[in-house]
Amino acid sequence: MNFPLTQLQPELVVRDAVMEDIDSIYSMMKSYSDRGILLPRSKSDICDNLLKFTVIDYNSETIACGALEIFTSELCEVRSLVVASHMKHTGLGRILVESLMEKARSLGLKRIMALTYVPEFFHKLGFKTVQKELFPEKVWSVCVKCCKFNDCDEVAVVADL
Ligand SMILES: CC(C)(COP(=O)(O)OP(=O)(O)OC[C@H]1O[C@@H](n2cnc3c(N)ncnc32)[C@H](O)[C@@H]1OP(=O)(O)O)[C@@H](O)C(=O)NCCC(=O)NCCS
Repeated sequence: MNFPLTQLQPELVVRDAVMEDIDSIYSMMKSYSDRGILLPRSKSDICDNLLKFTVIDYNSETIACGALEIFTSELCEVRSLVVASHMKHTGLGRILVESLMEKARSLGLKRIMALTYVPEFFHKLGFKTVQKELFPEKVWSVCVKCCKFNDCDEVAVVADL
């Protein structure tokens, strides 16, 4: 069931993730990674990278998450972006990405990218589709560990901060 954002907003909390969020981040991501929509992450990987995660709560339930991965002093990535199925298309994805962009800006980063199956969503937020080869930092640090390394069908998008 989808709700209008104006109805949700008073109850929304956007915050940094804490240890208690690991299970809900894992479950939200797994519901999509099981269907091949998102790359899977283990609980220990989420734990190791917890400081990078922002989450959204609605009525004390964690319903969305996303992580900011820094590659260089200029370039970062939106990773592990998920809105719980029953809350999609209510504006939460936009709130989360804009919050991660604000965090990146405040850190002094200059560009933010993503590898995605939903480039149209990112285009709505000002990202442009580009060639993946523009991001060797991503390819060599994260993509080499991915099972789809030789057969990547995701689209690269980037925005200036
Ligand atoms: C992609 C995802 C994060 C978007 O979150 P969301 O809360 O549903 O999106 P929003 O409601 O904030 O949408 C913002 C805008 O993008 C558009 N949009 C959202 N999903 C879209 C899609 N799949 N295709 C095209 N446009 C889309 C919306 O229509 C809206 O446009 P508007 O501002 O003109 O009304 C969410 O659908 C999701 O979790 N998907 C599964 C996991 C995934 O693919 N994550 C991305 C990994 S990079």
